[in-house]
Amino acid sequence: MQIDIYSPDVYSAGIPHQQFAWLRENAPVHWHEHPDGGGYWAVSRHPDVVRVSKDFKTYSAEQGFVMVDEMEPEVLDMVRNQLLGMDPPRHAPLRRAVITRFTSKRLAELEPQVREIARGIMSRASNGDEINFVEDLAGDLPTAVICSLLDIPENMWPQIRRWSDLCTSASDPDLGGSPEEVNSASIDMGTYGFQLACERKDKGGDDLISLLINQEVDGEKVSEAEFASLFVQIAVAGNETTRGLLSSGMYLLAQHPGAYADLEADFSLIPGAVEEMLRWTCPLHYFRRTATCDTELGGQMIAAGDRVVMLYSSANFDETVFHRPMEFDIRRDPNPHLAFGYGIHLCLGANLARLEARLFLEEFFRTFSGLELTGEPGYIRSNLVHGFKQMPARLVPRQ
Ligand code: HEM
Repeated sequence: MQIDIYSPDVYSAGIPHQQFAWLRENAPVHWHEHPDGGGYWAVSRHPDVVRVSKDFKTYSAEQGFVMVDEMEPEVLDMVRNQLLGMDPPRHAPLRRAVITRFTSKRLAELEPQVREIARGIMSRASNGDEINFVEDLAGDLPTAVICSLLDIPENMWPQIRRWSDLCTSASDPDLGGSPEEVNSASIDMGTYGFQLACERKDKGGDDLISLLINQEVDGEKVSEAEFASLFVQIAVAGNETTRGLLSSGMYLLAQHPGAYADLEADFSLIPGAVEEMLRWTCPLHYFRRTATCDTELGGQMIAAGDRVVMLYSSANFDETVFHRPMEFDIRRDPNPHLAFGYGIHLCLGANLARLEARLFLEEFFRTFSGLELTGEPGYIRSNLVHGFKQMPARLVPRQ
C-alpha cells in the first residue's frame, strides 16, 4: 500500500483509517520519508505508543520538541521551556507546581463558573439562525475557561484565541496566517505573558499566573521568561483541542441518534460518552519524541537522534486493544484511549477538558431540543490537529 500520512491533505477527510489499519497490521513501526530529506518512525499500535510515552529516557521530548517538523534553533530554545518540551529532571518540579490548579477539588470549585460560561454561550446561539457550530458554540468555551483561570481581562480573550489559532492551524490557508504572522503570534503571545508575569510578581493574586510566578518550585522561582513560554503552552494547549472535542463530539452524536437520545435522557451517561468522543475525535493526531540512544521498537532498529512519531489517532482504533473499534459506543468500558497521551506528559488539562465537555453537553441538552446539520463539516488542513473548521448547523431551542 502507498503510505502517505505526512501530507496535511491526507487528513482533509479525517483520520486516514485505511492507512493506519494497514500500518498496524503490516508495518507497526514504519520509516516514513519527510519532505526535509530525512525521515521519521511512525508508531501506530497502542502498546508501542504506550511504550514510547513511558520510556522518557530513551525517547526525549526535549531534544527535538514534539512536532514532526524540525524547528529553527531559536524557536527550539523557546519551546524547551514549555512543560511539553521538558525531560526529567526539569519537568517534574514545574509540573507539580502547575498541577495544584488542576486537582479535582480545584476543578469542582470551578464548575459553577464554567457552567455559567456554557449557559451564556448557549443562550446567545438560541435564536434559531444557522450557525457555524465550531466558531459560534464550541469555540468560545475553552478560551473563556482558560482566560478565566489565568485572570486575563475579557477584552483580550478574542486576541488570545486568534494567537492560539495561528499557532495551531498554520497549515490551513483558511485559518492560519502567513509564516511571519504565525511566527509573530507565538512571540507576541509570549511577550504578553511576560508582561502579565511582571505585573503580577509579588502582588499576591490567586490566579494561575500569580501562582506560577510567585511560587517556589524546589527552591527556585519560575522566571518571567520561563513563564512566558509556559503561558503560550497553557493558552494554546486547551483551545483548539477542546473545541475539536466539542464540535466533532456533537457531530458524532448527530450521526448516532440513539446515543443522542440516551444522553439527553440520562446525564449520568455523559462522562462515559465523553471518553468515547475523545477516542474518536482524538484532537491531536500525534506527538513526537527523539531517540536518545540506539534502541529497538516493534522489531525495528531505531538510531540515536531518530524522530519517533506516536500516532494517537491510530492507537485509539487498535483492534487488539478495543473491541469493535469502528463502533461508536458511549458505554464502552474500559476505554484506554490515548487522546491525552500517556506517561509523564499526560495532558495536564485532561480533567478540565472533561469537565468542559460534560457541562457543555448538559447545558446543550437543557437549551436545545435538537441539532440539525445544514451542510458538510470541513476539517482543518493539518497533520497534527484533528478537528473541524466549520460545521454548519441549526439548533432547535426548547420551548
Ligand atoms: C480535549 C482536549 C485536550 C486534548 C486532546 C489534549 C491533548 C494533550 C496531549 C496528547 C498531550 C501530550 C501528552 C504526552 O506527550 O504524553 C497534552 C499535554 C498537555 N496539555 Fe493537553 N489536551 C487537551 C486539553 C488541554 C487543556 C484544557 C489544557 C490546559 C488548560 C491542556 C494543557 C496541557 C499541558 C500543560 C500539557 C503538557 C503536560 C506535560 O508535558 O507535563 N490540555 N495534551
